[in-house]
Amino acid sequence: MSSSENLSASNPSTRPNTYFIKTFGCQMNVADSERMASLMADKGLKPAKSAEDAGVILINGCTVREKAVHKALSVLGQYRHRVEHAGGAKPIVGIGGCVGQLEKDELFRSSPFIDFVFGTDAIDSLPEILHRVEHGERHVVYTDFDKSMDYSTETKVLGTKAQAFVNIMKGCDKYCTYCIVPYTRGKEKSRTIREVLDDVAGLVARGVREVTLLGQNVNSFGKGNPNSEGFEPRELHNIIGKVGPRDGEENFPQLIRAIDQDPRMASLKRIRFTSSHPLDFSDELIECYQPASNGGVERLAAHLHLPVQSGSNRVLQKMGRHHKIEQYVAQMNRLKEINPDVGISTDLIVGFPTETEEDFQETMKLLDDVGYDNIYAFAYSPRPGTRASKLPDDVPGDVKLDRLNRLLKRQLEISEQRYAARVGKTLEVLVEGEAKKQTMVTKGTAQGRVWTARTSCNRIVNFAEDSNRNLIGRLLQVKITSSTALSLRGEIVKDAGLAESEKNLPVYDPLFSSEIVG
Ligand code: SAM
Ligand code: SF4
Ligand code: F3S
Repeated sequence: MSSSENLSASNPSTRPNTYFIKTFGCQMNVADSERMASLMADKGLKPAKSAEDAGVILINGCTVREKAVHKALSVLGQYRHRVEHAGGAKPIVGIGGCVGQLEKDELFRSSPFIDFVFGTDAIDSLPEILHRVEHGERHVVYTDFDKSMDYSTETKVLGTKAQAFVNIMKGCDKYCTYCIVPYTRGKEKSRTIREVLDDVAGLVARGVREVTLLGQNVNSFGKGNPNSEGFEPRELHNIIGKVGPRDGEENFPQLIRAIDQDPRMASLKRIRFTSSHPLDFSDELIECYQPASNGGVERLAAHLHLPVQSGSNRVLQKMGRHHKIEQYVAQMNRLKEINPDVGISTDLIVGFPTETEEDFQETMKLLDDVGYDNIYAFAYSPRPGTRASKLPDDVPGDVKLDRLNRLLKRQLEISEQRYAARVGKTLEVLVEGEAKKQTMVTKGTAQGRVWTARTSCNRIVNFAEDSNRNLIGRLLQVKITSSTALSLRGEIVKDAGLAESEKNLPVYDPLFSSEIVG
């Protein structure tokens, strides 16, 4: 008997009725993991505290950089030990997400103990896949893309939550030269505005107070969907010209406005979105950030994550981003002009092939020109199959690392200044949970539980409260008392009891059982 046959000899009666999900990558994968958790719960499985205690182990992997793939494979290596020593109670192990989509059955070669591989379009097939594995099939592969151009789904959240991710589109047609995502997530497809409205209304009815609309490039939302209900605005423009879906098709500003205007959303407090591309970032979306009295969308969070990747036009051109840095800076200036409170964040890549110190200095300059609250910066990692992977990876590893460190150091200084400017202000925050560090003492408050909350502009605020109340999901006014480059500290000001609208909320559950690794 081969070792893999031996490992498959699992006894279902002794396998724990529990699941564990290990998640790597972006918010899209986090949202997918929550969907998986919800499907496991529908099957009657309970969340396990760790992979050690689980009857079903799912790895939801990312392939955006080589390191991300290594992390998923290394975790798989750790689980192998657990599988090999489990005896009759061998857990079922599946690997999916962008890693599953890209690597497919290749994964069985290096890790024959895996039971199944599933791709990004196969999440809803998990119950069927598990059924097959439970009935003795091994090395099951579900990695076909859904070929239909319609995209219809319903958000699944576990338990009662204040925040929810809502997929509004999937895939990406941009094919930036360095990026693997179009190969792991397939072609762009959008849900209809009507379907998203009904979905969000359902979430709001279950207590959700903040939604994050998700897509790789939400500015392309609506492409191919006729605007049969006459949503406004009909066409989108920016400094580059006419952008986004065609006139007569649905588009992203329409969706945001439709959510805001829907009477079923009365208790929804914040609308967020991620991610978008500067090429399709429209003036009509910038208008949504205006004060409501000026035609803006009041509940649109004062935050924008708009990845730009580089400050050098030469590098942007090689990355296939199809815009000039001056156009992006002009868009950001316009946004800051109409709403100076918006917190802006971005993604940057250093060490792209041929990037010179001069190119890099243009990226450094961009930090000062835009004044980001926060950046996510990465060293370029060639991804097999992408156009950039055919260019020589000619920036040495130590130079990439040095540029990354200089960039992050400068951003920390900028963040520190921007966060310090908030001290003394009173901000509305949505409480996300108990802080990991429970050591803070705030002025005038006996040391109690420390909570982590988020402002509309996406800054983290920690504050203490010496009562046993569960504050998760509550909107509170917090006076900011001090700051660091990464977070703010404060104390609750409006606390003569919770505001009327905060009193009759459900008790929110903490996050579902999944370890999320960046
Ligand atoms: N759709 C979003 C966008 O257009 O920016 C997110 C794309 S990706 C999931 C998140 C970030 O990973 C990108 O914005 C980019 O900065 C980074 N990234 C993508 N491919 C990379 C690569 N080959 N090497 C290093 N970083 C990469
Ligand atoms: Fe990747 Fe570019 Fe698509 Fe973003 S827009 S997912 S960086 S190809
Ligand atoms: Fe996200 Fe990684 Fe896939 S960043 S889309 S999980 S490759």
